[in-house]
Amino acid sequence: MKTTTLRYSKATEKKIITRAVSVLSQGNVVVFPTETVYGIGASALQAKAVKKIFKAKGRPSDNPLIVHVASDEQLRMLVSEIPDKAKQLIKKFWPGALTIIFRKSSKVPMIVTANLDTVAVRMPSHSLARVIIQEAGPVAAPSANISGRPSGTTARHIIEDLQGKVDLIIDGGKSLIGIESTVIDVTVEPPIILRPGYITKEQLERVIGKVLVSGHKTKVKSPGMKYSHYSPKAQVIVVEGKKRIQIIKGLVSHLKNTSVISLETKYSNTKNYVSPTLRHFAQHLFHNFRECDSLGIRIIIVEGVSEKGIGHAIMNRARKAAVKIVH
Ligand code: TXA
Ligand code: MG
Repeated sequence: MKTTTLRYSKATEKKIITRAVSVLSQGNVVVFPTETVYGIGASALQAKAVKKIFKAKGRPSDNPLIVHVASDEQLRMLVSEIPDKAKQLIKKFWPGALTIIFRKSSKVPMIVTANLDTVAVRMPSHSLARVIIQEAGPVAAPSANISGRPSGTTARHIIEDLQGKVDLIIDGGKSLIGIESTVIDVTVEPPIILRPGYITKEQLERVIGKVLVSGHKTKVKSPGMKYSHYSPKAQVIVVEGKKRIQIIKGLVSHLKNTSVISLETKYSNTKNYVSPTLRHFAQHLFHNFRECDSLGIRIIIVEGVSEKGIGHAIMNRARKAAVKIVH
């Protein structure tokens, strides 16, 4: 398949919108930027089109997709009810990096939800994405990467994974947030976070009160969470706990071709990506993973961070990417 890549600018905006809407309407696949990570999208109401996403990504068919909307009307078309807590969350966090699980309507093809009777919906804040979705209709879109690889946050990384497998790639520059949306299920009481992400548990609880986090103690899981995820070609080692700095220094001193991703602490004699804040750490995590791959790095050491706020999402992704977790 021939993949066209179009770079976004004010001058190309109109052309990109027309092209993307036409590709989507014809039941084909478009990679588009969102504020979290890039999405690989197809018309959510066309089962055949959605099938192409699973094929391009190599995504297991039992892992459901997020449907992206641009308006309340589009949301209402997809769901059979909107609980009060969902209304409160929508008011506070949409458009933005929060995905909400609803009971689905009969309009949503079963392939989108992997046969579940619920559907995940998000209204992105990225303005180009919103215009395209508004014109093309709801767009089913997982993160734009081969299944199991780090989510794509720049067009270059996406071209590596998906060139020749999709019809159109829209290059909108580096993703602003760089880590995926938070997924929350409001069909259960109390609501439960199925995937930690950019919007934190603390922020959600300020709006709707107690929320649970999917984990060892809860049965409810996001189907996608059982698969290996976010892994670069290099082996990721996560080092956590009070002694982490000494442990990492020890590792660095005898490992070759190694890189360290850390918060504040600087490590010498190694390729070191230091972030000044947790938000910066989250924004660059996938990007750094992929840059390490392009540099031929063999081992990536991630310094553990506190699981407060967005640290929760960072540690979720890092541990899933890891071949080894050291305490
Ligand atoms: O920021 C994001 O969320 C990005 C951008 C493109 O919007 N999308 C994204 O999609 O990360 P994806 O497919 O990589 O992750 C979707 C997650 C998976 O863990 C999936 O299992 C879960 O949402 N999910 C989707 N539908 C679900 C449902 N009905 N019930 C439970 N979990 C669901
Ligand atoms: Mg993904």
